[in-house]
Amino acid sequence: MSEPNKNYRVGLGVCGGIAAYKAIEVLRLLQKAGCDVRVAMTRHATEFIRPLTFRALTGAYVLVDDYDEGNPDPIAHINFSQNIDLLLIVPATANTLAKFANGIADDFLSSTYLAANAPVMVAPAMNVSMWNHPATRRNIETLKDDGVRFVEPVAGELACKTVGTGKLEDVENIAEQALKVLSLESLVLSQKSKTQDSRLRTHDLKDENILLTVGGTREAIDPVRFISNHSSGKMGFAVAEAAAARGARVTVVRGSTAVEPPAGVEVVEAVSAQQMFEAVIDNLVRASVFIGAAAVADYRPKNVAETKIKKTNLDSLTIELEKTPDILANVAERRHENLLVVGFAAETNDVAAYARAKLERKNLDLIVANDVSRKDIGFGADDNAATLITRTTAVELPRMSKRELADKILDEVLRLRRQQ
Ligand code: CTP
Repeated sequence: MSEPNKNYRVGLGVCGGIAAYKAIEVLRLLQKAGCDVRVAMTRHATEFIRPLTFRALTGAYVLVDDYDEGNPDPIAHINFSQNIDLLLIVPATANTLAKFANGIADDFLSSTYLAANAPVMVAPAMNVSMWNHPATRRNIETLKDDGVRFVEPVAGELACKTVGTGKLEDVENIAEQALKVLSLESLVLSQKSKTQDSRLRTHDLKDENILLTVGGTREAIDPVRFISNHSSGKMGFAVAEAAAARGARVTVVRGSTAVEPPAGVEVVEAVSAQQMFEAVIDNLVRASVFIGAAAVADYRPKNVAETKIKKTNLDSLTIELEKTPDILANVAERRHENLLVVGFAAETNDVAAYARAKLERKNLDLIVANDVSRKDIGFGADDNAATLITRTTAVELPRMSKRELADKILDEVLRLRRQQ
């Protein structure tokens, strides 16, 4: 778990659900990492755990209701909300999400949400039908638009004995995601006042809405088999993380990846090239930059078998493939006036020449060319080396971490934006 380097103040909101007891573990993990945690509970949460438990663990008054006789502070929701670096809700119930999404402030926690300037992260847990209900889906979309970060629930057996998505994410992961947001925010804030790092000291991408494709795609052969590739998603997620740290709003269309997305970015799942294409088109109108970092399969089986293909006595099997849509080229073709389009090119020889041809063929603003014949960089590695090619320039960069390269790519995007 990442170690914070200062005493972060976390407001932990606990809602009324069976997973409420897990908030105790999250509290302990945050405390172990050096955070100062204050707890607020909804009235229903106190049916599951007593405020006394949190009071004993934090040494502080646990807020449930501004109007409680024992409440030492008459404007507690204002004071509580102004003195935290993160508001973290564990578990977040459907009711609380609905209240947050609609600005209803009828108890301590919902008033605190409205009054808070700190980033907000919610870890929902609920019955699968409640999670999938269109009303909940709408509220989640609204909250994401409002900048609320989600630690999505996972699939598993739920307290109601049904199986499906709705189980609270692992407490370790919730604490880790919270600490990531805290480090990111404090990094950005500290960079504003100090000046050591040229990259993170400002929110220089705050006006950009960045849409990225990340990872590989899986093209079904039959219900159990697919064609895919080795893309780890590391490079794409490095760009997503760097862009979020620089204040951009980031949407990642994620194919198959081996690594977890960074905190603070919106993730849309896609499996096949076709699904990735549709998700990109759905999100394109609000994007100001499109970055195609995914290794999209160029071909897919023409006919997907409905049932598992069985072995026969034949020694060979032929699968006919057809072209998938070229997402990057399609985006460039439909581009609106302000959209900057960035692609990646993996080449083994004549890297710059092939990449430039790709830039022109697909009508891109920038292409990041990688030499994949080198063993020390590329798929799965933490480092990369690339040449950044625009219509008029080509800059060959030395080997560096994917995160550093991500910032170089974003610097180039910003340079192109300023030239517009
Ligand atoms: N790309 C895409 N949709 C596809 C294929 C590729 O969006 N169906 C994007 C990738 O995300 C990447 C760039 O296009 O940004 C790669 O271009 P591509 O022509 O696919 O490169 P290669 O697969 O290396 O093609 P070639 O074999 O022609 O070099």
